[in-house]
Amino acid sequence: MSAAKQSRPKGTQDLVPPESERRRAVEAAARSVAGRFGFREIITPTFEHADVFVKSSGETSDVVLKEMYRFKDRADRDLVLRPEGTPGVVRAVLENNLALPARLCYVGPFFRYGRPQKGRLREFGQLGVEALGEATGWTDAELVTFGVEFFAELGITDCRVLLTSIGCRECRPGYRSQLVDYLAGRKDQLCPDCLVRLERNPMRVFDCKVETCRVAVADAPKPRGRLCPACAEHFAVVRQALDARGLVYEIDDRLVRGLDYYSRTTFEYLSARLGAQDSLGGGGRYDYLFEEFGGPATPAAGLAIGLERTMLAMPGTPEPARRRLAFVVWFSAAELDHAVKLADRLRAGGIPCRIDFDALGVEKKFKHQVKAADAQGAGCCVIVGPDELARGVYSVKDLGSGEQTEVPANIIIEHLRSVL
Ligand code: HAM
Repeated sequence: MSAAKQSRPKGTQDLVPPESERRRAVEAAARSVAGRFGFREIITPTFEHADVFVKSSGETSDVVLKEMYRFKDRADRDLVLRPEGTPGVVRAVLENNLALPARLCYVGPFFRYGRPQKGRLREFGQLGVEALGEATGWTDAELVTFGVEFFAELGITDCRVLLTSIGCRECRPGYRSQLVDYLAGRKDQLCPDCLVRLERNPMRVFDCKVETCRVAVADAPKPRGRLCPACAEHFAVVRQALDARGLVYEIDDRLVRGLDYYSRTTFEYLSARLGAQDSLGGGGRYDYLFEEFGGPATPAAGLAIGLERTMLAMPGTPEPARRRLAFVVWFSAAELDHAVKLADRLRAGGIPCRIDFDALGVEKKFKHQVKAADAQGAGCCVIVGPDELARGVYSVKDLGSGEQTEVPANIIIEHLRSVL
């Protein structure tokens, strides 16, 4: 009886080299750019008590209602694989009594039970940054800039930035009832989902893809038209700060973020390279979230960027033909000792290298090793033969060009640094 092959769960992916290395490079860029803006990394659990998300991300958001991996553990605790990072960060900041203001970032896996498609996975990576305890529009603008800089770092220079303000506790209720009145007169045009949205969170109707709903909201009142003076002033500062930087953005009054905790500024980055799931990332201000967690009133804003979508939007970088790797090649068992010591010395000098030990068991040892080096995509072979050892040199064979040069043993590390 043959064993059945296993496959990965739907909506997950295996990253094998070189894709795994590209992904780590994106994560390294994420940490580096976040560090430049003064964010320090926070690491929180990948699962939390369900309440952390139900109470904050929203009782009306699809992420919470439809997409959470929610389960009971063996002691009947109600847990959730985190669908996003912000609520867990707020919980952790309060639980650990972190001093505010604080700038925190995270890079890690998140889970949403959606319908998988290009750019939409059930396990995906996010870079998130949260500016906690910062109140002004200058911060919001700096966060928008952060995303643009991160994308630029990876060669993504064609993303669009959408921006709006959805108001605050003062102005949103008035706007909400105005919108509900407007949509109530057009109920016959709304899809069943939007009829529910009308009750729970009418702004989500702006996000519906159904044509009749789109027509129904085309001329609906927009939140930006009803901002209170304080929100209007805040938004003016955001725009002024972005304009001062020369950052190009579009005001989009129909921009609806999928989570419930936002207030005032919200924004999103779009890429034309992504297809239907075209949002590279997004964020906004969430001035009331700390209070919802029982903490003191704390202004805050942040954003998150999808790592898989970022990689889809990146310009293709041609894979280098050869890796930064040397194979130390020996002639016979007599030189293996020396080869092993040389490999240790090279590694200590920062040169990645390998030895083909399995050549010991074959007759044509030299050929076996060079073939193995080539198959691994190594950049060169460092040949340790009796003749080389007698003269205090190594022969270095470039596996790209096939050229072979002799290098004095005492400068081998410097030489390999310059050619690999
Ligand atoms: P979000 O818009 O839900 O915001 O997610 C941010 C980004 O994560 C999306 O734009 C997308 O690139 C990526 N993403 C989301 N779901 C998936 C998925 N199923 N597959 C692949 N990528 C996905 C948040 O998560 C907020 N916590 C952002 C934030 C931080 N707001 C304030 N601070």
